[in-house]
Amino acid sequence: MKEAAIPVLIAAAISLLAITTNADEAPAPDAVVDAINGVFGVHQGARPVHAKGTVLSGTFIASPEAASLTTAPHLQAGSSVPVTVRFSNFAGIPTIADNEGLASPRGMAVKFKLADGSDTNIVAHSFNGFPAATTSEFRQLLVALGTSKPDTPKPTPLDTFLGDHPIAKAFLTAAKPNPVSFASLPYYAVNAFKFTNKDGTAAFVRYQILPAGGEHYLNEADAKAAAASYLSDEIKKRVGDGPVTFTLVAQIADAGDKVDNPSIAWPADRKTVSLGTISLTKSAGDDAANKELIFMPNAVPAGIEAADPMIADRGAVYAASFARRNP
Ligand code: HEM
Repeated sequence: MKEAAIPVLIAAAISLLAITTNADEAPAPDAVVDAINGVFGVHQGARPVHAKGTVLSGTFIASPEAASLTTAPHLQAGSSVPVTVRFSNFAGIPTIADNEGLASPRGMAVKFKLADGSDTNIVAHSFNGFPAATTSEFRQLLVALGTSKPDTPKPTPLDTFLGDHPIAKAFLTAAKPNPVSFASLPYYAVNAFKFTNKDGTAAFVRYQILPAGGEHYLNEADAKAAAASYLSDEIKKRVGDGPVTFTLVAQIADAGDKVDNPSIAWPADRKTVSLGTISLTKSAGDDAANKELIFMPNAVPAGIEAADPMIADRGAVYAASFARRNP
């Protein structure tokens, strides 16, 4: 090889590196957990986000229509499987009061226990959208949040990030009223999945989990007066009085709807199909009793595939997070 060719090759290698390490490449899972810790601090044994939660158990029964979309075993007409559900507040602060701003959006994570001993999970929150289009962008937002303190000179990294990312700004500033109950909120899983039915027909879907009794929120005065754990207290009482039910729904994408960008909600008039009913009947207590519980957004059976790359990224980050909180 001629000597003059070497710098050319190095230049080509560097530009290739620039292409393969573009801003959208998923960051290392531990780097993401570190960035979350930069926002909320490290709280030994707790999840770095959605740190305060309460767990219930019950049953999921598939609707007659669910099988028209997918061959997934728990979504065949009449199929009934046990479920474990964890409701949570957003922040990575295990002692956060339920009526504080950072307690929203609320989380609802569902584990379906399948007959073959495996499980499949849905991890959703009470906002139809996400502040970032990709995992890399989400980490940038977390770093901006973690490095912008009250005494940081203006513009702070967060001011700059939000100036360039209006969707993140809209997410952070959206009104998130305090619910009457964890059972009076809709939840959205926001990342898209591909469902395939027995004829091989595929559809891109996003899950919604809708409260059977409708949406209900506290007025400002009642929210202010609410006890620090009013939501976990309420749901334990409610489930003692009778089943707490939600409808699991698939929102179906139209051609042209983006499947790889959870920051953009699909239009509300998209077709929806009921997949079945989640019926919670028992409290399984708060986090101390459920330390080893983990919900993996990428745990899916045949008939369902991740369509949004963020789902696999989340799987890797949640596993890294679990390893830290269960050393
Ligand atoms: C790249 C994007 C995301 C990252 C890096 C991320 C990170 C995390 C981490 C580290 C945990 C703790 C996991 C554990 O220790 O078990 C977690 C939990 C959670 N996340 Fe995410 N998340 C992302 C996207 C989302 C989205 C899109 C939603 C809602 C649709 C969501 C909702 C939740 C909920 C509800 C929990 C609590 C689950 C539980 O109750 O155990 N996250 N997230």
